[in-house]
Amino acid sequence: MKFFVDTADVDAIAELNDLGMVDGVTTNPSLILKSDRDIVEVTKEICDMVDGPVSAEVVALEADAMLTEGRKLAEIADNICIKLPLTLDGLKACKILTGEGYKTNVTLCFSANQALLAAKAGATYISPFIGRLDDLNVDGMDLIAEIRQIYDNYGFETQILAASIRSANHMKEAALIGADVATAPPGVIKAMANHVLTDKGLDAFLKDWEKTGQKIV
Ligand code: G3P
Repeated sequence: MKFFVDTADVDAIAELNDLGMVDGVTTNPSLILKSDRDIVEVTKEICDMVDGPVSAEVVALEADAMLTEGRKLAEIADNICIKLPLTLDGLKACKILTGEGYKTNVTLCFSANQALLAAKAGATYISPFIGRLDDLNVDGMDLIAEIRQIYDNYGFETQILAASIRSANHMKEAALIGADVATAPPGVIKAMANHVLTDKGLDAFLKDWEKTGQKIV
């Protein structure tokens, strides 16, 4: 499973990139707001930092305007992935932009039927939002499983990009189901390394090592 970082915080991306844990980045208008940076400037900085795709989202609602915005965002760097909302206009724009050779990410997906439409539109990625379904007492992971089955039934090449991930457990479940990618806030990716028994075991090893009086270097 590829790891995308869901943030426009360049310092956080750099930290995870140094760890070798960044296969791509996803942003959205809310994350740009949170960064308090100009969208073109910050997106360019991110694109220069990471090798993988960097999703930048259009904000227009009509297909023609989405095309204009999408092509403009794609001028930022070669690794831009144009993010479009899962609306009929978004799907129309997706089909056209994919046909022009751009990478596309169809976002705000909350149902298997929406994901089926995105695959038919040739989306590079479909972004089902797990956490926001969980918020409504609907199991977001069931949606990932449904999409996995549908895409596998027909050999769709659209990659499932599990989004709105809120916990390390979400990462594990997405991987078990077979999501192609998971995008998560930096803190969630770092939290995957945590285990109380690791901390406890390390503490005991270090205490015993001290008692040996030895040094490795
Ligand atoms: O990947 C989409 C993400 O940015 C939305 O996350 O936590 O606001 O539902 P959240």
